[in-house]
Amino acid sequence: MFPYAIDLENISFSYENHMIINNLSLKVKPGEHIGIVGDSGCGKSTLLKIIAGLYPPDSGTIAIAGAHFPEKIRKQVALVMQGNSLFPLSIRDNITCGHPIADEMVWAACQSASLTKWIAKLPNGLDTNVGERGNQVSGGQAQRIQIARALCKDAPIILLDEPISALDQDTGHSVLDSLGKLTNGKTVVHVTHHQETLDDSDTIYRMEGGSLAYLHKKAAVREENDS
Ligand SMILES: Nc1ncnc2c1ncn2[C@@H]1O[C@H](COP(=O)(O)OP(=O)(O)O)[C@@H](O)[C@H]1O
Ligand SMILES: [Mg+2]
Repeated sequence: MFPYAIDLENISFSYENHMIINNLSLKVKPGEHIGIVGDSGCGKSTLLKIIAGLYPPDSGTIAIAGAHFPEKIRKQVALVMQGNSLFPLSIRDNITCGHPIADEMVWAACQSASLTKWIAKLPNGLDTNVGERGNQVSGGQAQRIQIARALCKDAPIILLDEPISALDQDTGHSVLDSLGKLTNGKTVVHVTHHQETLDDSDTIYRMEGGSLAYLHKKAAVREENDS
């Protein structure tokens, strides 16, 4: 077994000559929920893509559930990206990513992502095509489809990039509620502009100058770490 679900040691990453991540280290225990806040453009989405195995760091080491290589890392994580990452396929295919997942499980994920009412009204239901880059669905629906995808993947590590930013307040709260229940026992990294949505997080960091500063830790976690 590995002691940390996420173990980043002194990683750096640049887009061309622009350094975004600067000697950043992060350790997250299995089952721990962390939140990351920070100004727009500080590198939060880039950091999640590195943790998800989409971008290799320029330097430093990365171990995700003990995996070091992108193909293995990607199996361990489900990433709900900011913005639209839908394929021009059916709602079902966007949720299952082509894996043979039973309808019951797809509907359960839709329920948790507050999608069922809308899908039930569509003439083709789950077989409705979302269009090129999801242009046949709203931003909020696209975000909820991605959340259902992440729930169906059933990976031990869930990465959420502003998961409710395109949702109205009520839907946002109900999706966060469902996510809270379904991420129980999983490792979660939740990036957000709204620190008040991080009630569920054990530890909160602020991202600044390419690295993470500790902001807040729940008392229970603090005691456990201190003992
Ligand atoms: N694919 C890319 N190519 C070049 N620069 C990028 C790319 N993606 C993001 N950036 C730049 O990197 C910085 C960090 O972006 P990002 O990680 O999206 O920040 P955040 O999610 O905190 O808003 C920004 O200055 C952004 O413009
Ligand atoms: Mg971002």
